[in-house]
Amino acid sequence: MKTENRVYQAYYTKSEPIVSYMLSLLDLKGSEKILEPCAGDGVFIDPIINLYPNIQIDALELNELSYTNLINKYAQKNSVKIKKTDTLVDNDLLFLCSMGGGYDAVIANPPYGAWRKPEERKKLKKSYNGFYAKESYSLFLFRCIEALKEGGKLSFIIPDTYLNLHMHKDIRKYILTNSKIKEISLFPSSFFPGVNFGYANLSIIALEKCSFLKENLENEFYIFKNYQTVEELGNQMSKNILKINLKQSEVLSSSDFAFITNGNKKIIDCINSTKETIGNVCECVTGFYSGNDKDFLKVKDKSIRNSKNYEVANLDLVEFNCDSNQINGVIGDKTFVPIVKGGNQKYYKPDNWFMFWSVKQVDFYKTNKKARFQNSNFYFRKGIGVPMVSSTSITASLIENRLFDQSIVGIFPKDESYLYYLLAFFNSPTCNKLIRTINSSTNNSSNYIKKIPFIKPNQIVLNEISNRINNIIIQCKTKGNFDIQLEEQNNDAIYSIYGF
Ligand SMILES: C[S@@+](CC[C@H](N)C(=O)[O-])C[C@H]1O[C@@H](n2cnc3c(N)ncnc32)[C@H](O)[C@@H]1O
Repeated sequence: MKTENRVYQAYYTKSEPIVSYMLSLLDLKGSEKILEPCAGDGVFIDPIINLYPNIQIDALELNELSYTNLINKYAQKNSVKIKKTDTLVDNDLLFLCSMGGGYDAVIANPPYGAWRKPEERKKLKKSYNGFYAKESYSLFLFRCIEALKEGGKLSFIIPDTYLNLHMHKDIRKYILTNSKIKEISLFPSSFFPGVNFGYANLSIIALEKCSFLKENLENEFYIFKNYQTVEELGNQMSKNILKINLKQSEVLSSSDFAFITNGNKKIIDCINSTKETIGNVCECVTGFYSGNDKDFLKVKDKSIRNSKNYEVANLDLVEFNCDSNQINGVIGDKTFVPIVKGGNQKYYKPDNWFMFWSVKQVDFYKTNKKARFQNSNFYFRKGIGVPMVSSTSITASLIENRLFDQSIVGIFPKDESYLYYLLAFFNSPTCNKLIRTINSSTNNSSNYIKKIPFIKPNQIVLNEISNRINNIIIQCKTKGNFDIQLEEQNNDAIYSIYGF
């Protein structure tokens, strides 16, 4: 895409059902003062002035050509004021916001992922209280809520990523504490005609500005999803549509203030009401990268998957019994250590990969720009490795006396007596349902893993699960597979603990 296009991200809302649904959410009476912060060619302005010819609209637009077209188009309309400006840094708007806002309604399809020069982004981040500035739509949302009067209404069409991605937690907190959400509709971006955003899902959010925190926290609203056609938007009685009822105080008390939009009520309630999370009871960290695996990583033999580009290790040079004494390198002849890599294998991964780990070499890792000698106090400790990306279900395997690489999240229970229970848990369908509800992609980054609810089993169940895991690990080490019944018994026990 040409840089100019990436600046404006001018995807116009050429869809009558979307426009009319968004307008209906404003519930206009005709006497309002309205802001259109990124007016484009006026798709929202036209139906409003058709209904209310004298309604006041301030239309802001950055692009010279679009601005000129708007000036010509609304030349006869004194009530529509067009301004060529960058809405995000417009001083008049900023001043209005500092006075508590002045608009009765805002309607917008802001640019998504609009490109900005790094120095501009830095400035934006600063002036937007440290908000995530790489994705401009959330800044538009913030500024437009600020620009509303008390009780003013907003209707925005934006990607759905602000609902649960970690980087958008500040905008979530702001919305939850400064407004009453009326409703949110989620639908595929293919409903939007003729453009491919690269965003899987879009959302339309309607809210009302409110400065009474107690009222905001008490406010309940619905998230609507599962629309089959664009015409169904706004017709919430349609039987296809899934309704998720949420209370703002519940969302605010969930970790990172995430809106949970997947999964059944039991799972959502478990996530929202949990007293303890994996993040409370474990350290969750990413592992090591040599900076140049091709030269420093060796493989056991050429039958190992993806071993084509790696040399075979001399196993006589491997120190298998590593502990924290080897963090800074192995002294002596044995200069390689086992490393656990990605790949979805449950419970125990055999020692197939080895990293060059002499003291001199570790010094290199510590200073090399490409290498990641990170979280080194966890190297060679007992923990659980979860690959950052899972193929279907989340999987976990034991890390002990070994290094783990950066494609793995290392999970280290603060109380080691839960190690085997957690290893069973991370391989269970229960855990998979939880993490996919927290984040629907197959990404298991530590931020998401930390949010998984942790429920302590009683001592008897803990012992039973741990014993079965002990057997599974012995079987994996000795014969390379395990008795599936042991796993099923563990899964049943974890189902009973969590209730799903
Ligand atoms: C996604 S389009 C939407 C246009 C129209 N509201 C619609 O829905 O069809 C975004 C518009 O915002 C304009 N724009 C992009 N960045 C802007 C900024 N920082 N300030 C004001 N307008 C901006 C673009 O030129 C484009 O016309």
